[in-house]
Amino acid sequence: MPVLVVNVDHVATLRQARMGREPDPVTAAHLAELGGAHGIIVHLREDRRHIQDRDLALLKQTVQTNLHLEMAATNEMHAIALATVPHMVCLVPEKREELTTEGGLNLIGRGQDLRDYLADIHAAGIASSLFIDADPEQIQAAKAIGSEYIEIHTGHYADASSREERKTELKKILHGIQLARDFGLKVNLGHGLNYTNILPFAQTPGIEEYSIGHSIMARAIHVGLGQAVREMADIIRTFSS
Ligand code: PXP
Repeated sequence: MPVLVVNVDHVATLRQARMGREPDPVTAAHLAELGGAHGIIVHLREDRRHIQDRDLALLKQTVQTNLHLEMAATNEMHAIALATVPHMVCLVPEKREELTTEGGLNLIGRGQDLRDYLADIHAAGIASSLFIDADPEQIQAAKAIGSEYIEIHTGHYADASSREERKTELKKILHGIQLARDFGLKVNLGHGLNYTNILPFAQTPGIEEYSIGHSIMARAIHVGLGQAVREMADIIRTFSS
């Protein structure tokens, strides 16, 4: 049965907008776990635009489920992963100018490179995943690299601008899941998944984890804003009377 792993980067994005202390992704992670998340994901980006080193260190101490670290395959992140020892590391491409991760890693021609990169990570007992598009060549390359997991990028499916395009992208993902399973890879899905576009995966066997952030945080604002406003209005009413 697949499980939900919640990405709390977006909470940190809101905090960093004011460079302040709230909302705190560490608190959000705790609430996500109380809500039933099977794991917490953070992407520590090179430019530290949302998650900070402090967040990762605190989450390592406080997460009671599984802590997943998304990161670019750089020397700096290699050292941080080995110092932190999360449950899983997911290698993602990273560009400074992008709003969010825009596509999967290109593994072609990087086999030896990434096998070496992951060797110490595996030796430290950290599981690895490679964030890739649902492309048979990439899936085959992931198998050759020796990663236990892949995360199939669902962003093209989520962002499809027509029903036809969405159907095509869905087919690619379903085919990719099957191919990865045939290779003995474990499959996670993530990027752009929400409360409706996740439904077509309901009958698909072999999905281990859904990695979801933005739609859950957006929903949290929608379902929580009314109460937050009521609480402030109550304070104003009370001190004004
Ligand atoms: N998986 C990866 C590799 C990502 O980079 C992201 C975005 O940080 C997600 C999953 C979650 O995507 P979303 O925030 O759109 O749910």
